[in-house]
Amino acid sequence: MIYLNNKLVPEGKALISVFDHGFLYGDGIYETLRAYKGTVFMLDEHMDRLFRSASMIGLMVPQKPGTIKKAVYNTMEANRLDDAVIRITVSRGAGPPGLDPDLCPKPTFVIFASAFKKYPGQYYRKGVKVAIVNTRRNYNKALDPQIKSLNFLNNILAKIEAKKAGAYEAIMLNYRGYIAEGTISNVFFAGNNVLCTPSINTGILDGITRRIILDIAKELKIKTMEGNFRPEEIYNAQEIFISNTTMEVMPVTEIDNKKISPAPGKITKMLNRAYRRKVAGYIKGENKA
Ligand code: PDD
Repeated sequence: MIYLNNKLVPEGKALISVFDHGFLYGDGIYETLRAYKGTVFMLDEHMDRLFRSASMIGLMVPQKPGTIKKAVYNTMEANRLDDAVIRITVSRGAGPPGLDPDLCPKPTFVIFASAFKKYPGQYYRKGVKVAIVNTRRNYNKALDPQIKSLNFLNNILAKIEAKKAGAYEAIMLNYRGYIAEGTISNVFFAGNNVLCTPSINTGILDGITRRIILDIAKELKIKTMEGNFRPEEIYNAQEIFISNTTMEVMPVTEIDNKKISPAPGKITKMLNRAYRRKVAGYIKGENKA
């Protein structure tokens, strides 16, 4: 069952117009969320980011946060899901071709959810390969990566390059050549017991997982540094990992054919365990905001 506009409908009936500007121009925004044992993790934070992305493109979300939160749970229930991945999409809606948002009187609102498919265990036991690609992350004064928009070609081009290089995830640099982020993930690296990650103003999405990891690192008294980092710095790192809502903390074993060993490293393992404890606490209701 899919939640479309304001009600649950069977997948076969969840249809949108070929004139939807989400389809014609990538004009819209989305969020990906994860539910553990029936609890949606960081729902309020995802809701805040959904509304922020919408406001950054002048899009009115057609539902109130409280209604959306209920609809997320109703969608999970209708599909009998406990461990799930949920996506909320809001597009500009249908209207005649043309760029003017006023052509579209009614945004399209969709929630769908599916069972969470576990990543292969070896991604965590051994790590994944990443490659620094030629495609640069969008310049934030052209299309701000903080808008979690439907316009994903920048990331898709990077993903194509990564696949050609035999890598699981691409690492994009920003327009100035500093490390930015992955196609669907944030990136961290560690050396000499300092955990480094590109700062938000390099032009990246402020990942919710990234924020949690930085908080956990502080709790564990791991020194952290957010800044502008050159590729050499990540090449020389002792540990690298990527993060997002569904991957959590995913170790990297190789960057541009340079092996990181041992992977996962000490800090990566600590953060991975602490992240899972955080999730467990959250679903018990200990850490909800
Ligand atoms: N992607 N950077 C980019 C470009 C992303 O698309 C994502 C998330 C992240 C990590 O954000 P978070 O920790 O809040 O999930 C960073 C989601 C998972 C997606 O595209 O489905």
